[in-house]
Formats: sequence, structure tokens, C-alpha cells
Amino acid sequence: MTATGEDATNTIDGGLEKVGVVGGGLMGSGIAEVAARSGRSVVVAEATQSAADAARARIEKSLQRAAQRGKLEDPEGVLGRIGFSADLDALADRDLVVEAIVENEDAKTELFARLDKIVAAPDAILASNTSSIPIMKLAVATSRPQQVLGIHFFNPVPVLSLVELVPSLMTAEATTERARSFVQDGLGKHAIDCQDRAGFVVNALLIPFILSAIRMYESGFASAEDIDSGLVRGAAHPQGPLALADLIGLDTTKAVAESLYEEFKEPLYAPPPLLARMVDAGLLGRKAGRGFYTYG
Ligand code: NAI
Repeated sequence: MTATGEDATNTIDGGLEKVGVVGGGLMGSGIAEVAARSGRSVVVAEATQSAADAARARIEKSLQRAAQRGKLEDPEGVLGRIGFSADLDALADRDLVVEAIVENEDAKTELFARLDKIVAAPDAILASNTSSIPIMKLAVATSRPQQVLGIHFFNPVPVLSLVELVPSLMTAEATTERARSFVQDGLGKHAIDCQDRAGFVVNALLIPFILSAIRMYESGFASAEDIDSGLVRGAAHPQGPLALADLIGLDTTKAVAESLYEEFKEPLYAPPPLLARMVDAGLLGRKAGRGFYTYG
């Protein structure tokens, strides 16, 4: 969106041309990919060099898959727009940084305090892809809470078009509007507005549904296959709730459930014991090769 008579370079898609992503896992790599595919310069900062290399390999594979399906013409060009680093300082010149590290409040607040010192542009936006941690907790870890908000993408990011925009009580309206412009005009996704409450719109509805399916399976009421095919064939869901939990990651599912339970104290949000045991065992779903199902 370009306002007439203004400097176009500062107004195109909220002026957010240089994008940083912290954490290049499932979500961070997807966010980096869609931002680079929109023509932006992207830097992915990971915790270690080997994690940065893994993020690069993940994005490369996804771009190649898109090219093979005829959905992308220049995978090398897109990859060339993405830098990878194990050093957070590589984000100093970014206009927008999207945090996508583990769903852990202490880790995220510590990271936001560090980003606040590193990201130099006074109008830069610091965003979180958190599924459930209050944006306000991250905002007050910085000296610029008016420029902090949630930009919550959905997995797989290159495929799903929804983004939840989550301003905290302290987020400036201009910040939300720049983020909206980036998401809608820049990335071509659909934004919905949510209050800063655990789970926002989608996970507040989806997580108790997944937890109910886990409890049903845990009680021996039905097999995983029957629960999932029941919802696929009987309710036209694209995949069943247990397969979906495997896709989200059981650690992330549990962490989101804990945040919802912490916020609302409703038993329907409490993670069932089986979910906790599976996470303890490292059976995290697709990304670990095994969860409710086994993956090749
Ligand atoms: P993941 O476990 O796949 O990736 C997390 C990445 O962050 C890892 O690669 C890890 O090395 C890196 N990391 C951890 N601490 C770091 C640090 N201090 N600095 C730099 N990198 C660090 O997790 P996933 O699934 O990508 O989730 C990330 C965030 O996105 C979480 O907040 C989660 O709640 C949210 N989310 C997850 C969705 C899903 O379906 N998995 C959907 C929407 C949001």
C-alpha cells in the first residue's frame, strides 16, 4: 500500500523490507521462506551453527518442492535472499524481527530483552510467533513495548493463508497497521485480529479439541486411526486431531495447553498424562519421526 505523495520506499507494505527471523525450526524456516518469496531480504538467527545449517537445508528442500510442483520459478534466487547466522547481532539492521524459538516464556522474554538492544532502527517492529504466551510479557521486556506485537502464522507457513495479529494493550495502532500491511499486501496472507489472550482465536478452539482426542485415545475408547478417520470422513476435516498434533509437534501442543490452562484454569485445557509422557520420551510427532504415528 502506497500513500499518495509519500516516499514509497517508506510506505510499501509498512516499510518492512528487511526481515529477521529468530529460530529456524518448523515455523521460523516457513516464515523466512514466505518473506524471501515476497522479495524481501531475510536473516535467520539460530542458537547454534548446526541449527542454522539445518534451517537452511529445511528451506532449500521446501523451495525445491515448490519448484518441482511448478509453484516457484527461481528457488536459488529466493534462497539467495536469506542469510543464516548463529549470531543474534546479524539482526541489527532489520526493520522487522519475528521470533519463532521454543514456546518457553523465560527463553522468549530473555530474547526480547536482547533484541531490544541489538535491533537498531528506532521504528523497527519486534514480533513473536508465539501460540500462547502473553504478548505483554514480551513487550515489557523491551524499551519499546509500543512496537511489539504477535504475528502468529500457521503450519505449514507456505501453505496456510491465515495470520493472527495480536497487539498487546501497549502496542501502537501504527505498529499493528504496518504489520497488517506486511502480512496482507506483502505476503498475500489473510490477517484476523485477536486479543492478547492465551491461544488467540484458533488455538483456544483447536487445542481443547486435540486434547479431547488424546484423552479418548488414552482411555482406550478408540484407536488413533479410528479417531482420525472419524473426523476426516465424518466431519470433512483435512486430517484427524492426532495426526494434526503430530504435525504441530507434541512439545508445542503441550506447551500451548499449559499456557491456556495457566491463563483460564479450565480442566479442558490441562495436558493429559499421555501427552506429557510422550514429550518426556521424545516422541514429538513428525519432526521426531514418531508421535501418535510413525514417520519414514
Ligand atoms: P521448533 O522446535 O521446530 O523450532 C524452534 C527453533 O528455535 C529450533 O530450531 C531451536 O534451535 C531454535 N531456538 C531455540 N532457542 C533459540 C534462541 N535462543 N535463539 C535462536 N534460536 C533458538 O518449534 P516451532 O514449531 O517452529 O515453534 C516455534 C514457535 O512457533 C513457538 O513459539 C510455537 O508456539 C510457535 N508456533 C508453532 C506452530 C506449530 O504448528 N508448530 C504453529 C504456530 C506457532
